[in-house]
Amino acid sequence: ELGQYRHYMQKEIFEQPAALSATLEMLEGARSVQPGLFGANAEAIFADVNRVLIIACGTSYHAGLVARYWLEAIAGVPCVVEIASEYRYRESVANPHTLVVTISQSGETADTLAALQHAKNLGMAHSLAICNAPESSLVRETALRFITRAGPEIGVASTKAFTTQLAALYLLTLALATRLGRLDAVREANALQALRHLPAAVARVLELEPEIKAWAERFSDKQHALFLGRGRHYPIALEGALKLKEISYIHAEGYPAGELKHGPLALVDRNMPVVAVAPNDTLLEKLKSNLQEVRARGGELYVFADADSEISESEGVHILRLPEHYGSLSPLLHVVPLQLLSYHVALVRGTDVDKPRNLAKSVTVE
Ligand code: F6R
Repeated sequence: ELGQYRHYMQKEIFEQPAALSATLEMLEGARSVQPGLFGANAEAIFADVNRVLIIACGTSYHAGLVARYWLEAIAGVPCVVEIASEYRYRESVANPHTLVVTISQSGETADTLAALQHAKNLGMAHSLAICNAPESSLVRETALRFITRAGPEIGVASTKAFTTQLAALYLLTLALATRLGRLDAVREANALQALRHLPAAVARVLELEPEIKAWAERFSDKQHALFLGRGRHYPIALEGALKLKEISYIHAEGYPAGELKHGPLALVDRNMPVVAVAPNDTLLEKLKSNLQEVRARGGELYVFADADSEISESEGVHILRLPEHYGSLSPLLHVVPLQLLSYHVALVRGTDVDKPRNLAKSVTVE
């Protein structure tokens, strides 16, 4: 079953182009994103919502955090993202015009199911599940659904489920943006073109594996690592840190780069590698000055840039460039090298990649 791969995680990382193609298949020949993609009642429900509440756990929560940047910037819809286990026990203010979006690979995560129930009890009936398991409990509980077609994910660490969730969330953003008149035909056509090209773009990023493997050697004796990003790549930094800690057992933290000097900079020294997600976007210059602060404290930098990011290698600054820069969908590309990095660090350390200690694939108890 593993074919040419050593582990399910590696196989699933490399299946991402196919998983994205399958998830986006319905876009073949489409000129716009129809609400019907999310269910028969979607049009009526979308017409009644003016805000989005996203609820999820773990990696699925990180997908929600990326979506928040898209929903507010592209669709102009206010969005909050909640960790399911927090939301369900918190006294919060409910609004019936909220689209409650739950995201889950398995559709069986106890906290996510309970948080959805909690939202319904508060009078929020407009619900949408983004889920990889069509027959799951979650999908049975929501008014609308979008099934990602990542195929079975066996490795405990979520990889292809994450990128397909992001694709689904981007489609949701486009559907809401079109409805609200925020997206003209040209922009929508460009966005669809970018989505269709995603599988090929991810495939090119996967070709960086040999270089990432070489970097991984340098992480294997470290105790701690810091992951930095800004804007829609801040959640990607969180996801990179989660992947590293769960499969290699190296303590890692993801931080918005602008927060460095508010605390974590105190940790930085020669023994603390700092990974930066540095696509060529409007925040790159800001990020570069954050990186200088790291260098000034002797921190070793591992920067994932784009082909055209204006940033150069120097003493202690290692750079890997993704082949193309990808605008608002860039988080889907930039997470891939971080998945590969954690995989290869775990290999060097000899941990059980597909079944990390203390973890279960599906968390069906609170
Ligand atoms: C991390 C990971 C977990 C899951 C989380 C939610 O790699 O796999 O953090 O993302 O347990 O699971 P689902 O998406 O099935 O609700």
